[in-house]
Amino acid sequence: MDSIKNIIIFDTTLRDGEQSPGASMNIEEKLRIAAQLEKLNVDVIEAGFPIASEGDFEAVKRVAKATRHSQISGLCRSNDKDIDCAWKALKHAGERGRIHTFIATSDIHMQYKLKMSEQQVIDTAVAAVRRAVGYTPNVEFSAEDAVRTRLPFLARVVEEVIAAGAKVVNIPDTVGYTIPSEYFNIIKYLKDHVANVEQAILSVHCHNDLGLAVANSLAAIQAGAEQVECTINGIGERAGNCSLEEVVMALRTRQDILPYQTNVVTEHIYATSRLLSTVTGIVVQPNKAIVGANAFAHEAGIHQHGVLMEKTTYEIMTPESIGLTQNRLVLGKHSGRHAFGQRLTELGYDLGKEDLDKAFVRFKTLADKKKDIYDEDLDAIVADEIVRIEERYRLLEMNVASGSFAAPTATVAMEVDGKRKKTAVMANGPVDATFKAIKKLTGSQATLKDFTIGAITGGTDAQGECTVRLQHDGREVLGQGAHSDIIVASAKAYINALNKLASVLQRTSGGL
Ligand code: KIV
Ligand code: ZN
Repeated sequence: MDSIKNIIIFDTTLRDGEQSPGASMNIEEKLRIAAQLEKLNVDVIEAGFPIASEGDFEAVKRVAKATRHSQISGLCRSNDKDIDCAWKALKHAGERGRIHTFIATSDIHMQYKLKMSEQQVIDTAVAAVRRAVGYTPNVEFSAEDAVRTRLPFLARVVEEVIAAGAKVVNIPDTVGYTIPSEYFNIIKYLKDHVANVEQAILSVHCHNDLGLAVANSLAAIQAGAEQVECTINGIGERAGNCSLEEVVMALRTRQDILPYQTNVVTEHIYATSRLLSTVTGIVVQPNKAIVGANAFAHEAGIHQHGVLMEKTTYEIMTPESIGLTQNRLVLGKHSGRHAFGQRLTELGYDLGKEDLDKAFVRFKTLADKKKDIYDEDLDAIVADEIVRIEERYRLLEMNVASGSFAAPTATVAMEVDGKRKKTAVMANGPVDATFKAIKKLTGSQATLKDFTIGAITGGTDAQGECTVRLQHDGREVLGQGAHSDIIVASAKAYINALNKLASVLQRTSGGL
């Protein structure tokens, strides 16, 4: 058997992942995710695109300062201003800081987007890499839309940027177009035709438009790629990126035919996936590989029987290997602060004393109303109480009258920019009345794009969980709220979305 080769895991959840509609995160949220990614032991964390906005710059800088062992990458286009800005944010990570510069190389991008010739693209790429190398040897170059680039030209670009000092060269499938055999051949071609290829690491970055991002990444690894760019839960631009948990677990599970390993501590995968869902409000589909709610559930009687006899009859990996513990029923009314804190730690939450106190108070209130508290309830508490952005708007109290009799009326009191405000609105239903009251108090012009209500766990005493998607000025955000009263949960979700929108628009200097 071949010796086991290490594959570098480059996580871009905070950059490409954040480009998912509704996935924008504020700095505190990014810091939380970055801390969890370090726990997961990814090799590289792409923390953002520093020139994109002040918020992005600050986030990259803070992640660079707060992390300890993962390398921190910042994306930049191939021009001096972008590169200088990226390094200004990344330098706080010292040697761990990686400048990741890119330019498109496909005919279609060169002709319509860049309006540049091949030589101009090469000159720009080389100049960018040289400028970046002036700051740090840790430089990555990406040939955007590499998959649709003519191979001889791609090989020239790769050779020139390596000669200019790039230590990692990324070959992205920007539009999610390739299939495994084709991608294998592209990487193989570069390995065979780029004279200095051994002086750099070849990286792959796949989008999932055809559902092939993970398969393509694995094919590229088999062809000699040594770094995989991926995101937690596969979030990212359009159909998303290669899912970290899927590619890592495929490598771990099929060691018999894939002689590769990663440094990822797979036992933290589940907690990381949940944390990301909690922070962004983007839930994982139940049948999602590795981290979906049904990924380890055996429904058919014949399967259940088999698993009871011998797990490996239907289980190719253990739930424990991704950190999914069996004791989902966790706490109740009599559970103490210690047990509560311990369970949160097991779930991947690293709360300070103040946040833990706040969460514990909320837990006790819930435990008075609900007999059994599950992990999902704890996620909701953390999302609702702790993972909060700066709040321009706060719900103070509310009361709703509804039924088959009188017109539904919501009376809502809120704090808006530090001032208490109150109003009552009659409308078609209790949620409609509540949302209209909140709109009136905040003066928001945002459009409601989507609204979902669900129960977090089973039982009539379950907490309600709501998600609200708002759009304003081309920006989309997701808000979440949880409460044992479903209308209060809806109000919280709506207000959370408004706060996120305010924060996003402030970062990009818009206004509500
Ligand atoms: O998809 C892509 O091409 C990218 C690059 C900028 C790396 O995200
Ligand atoms: Zn991408």
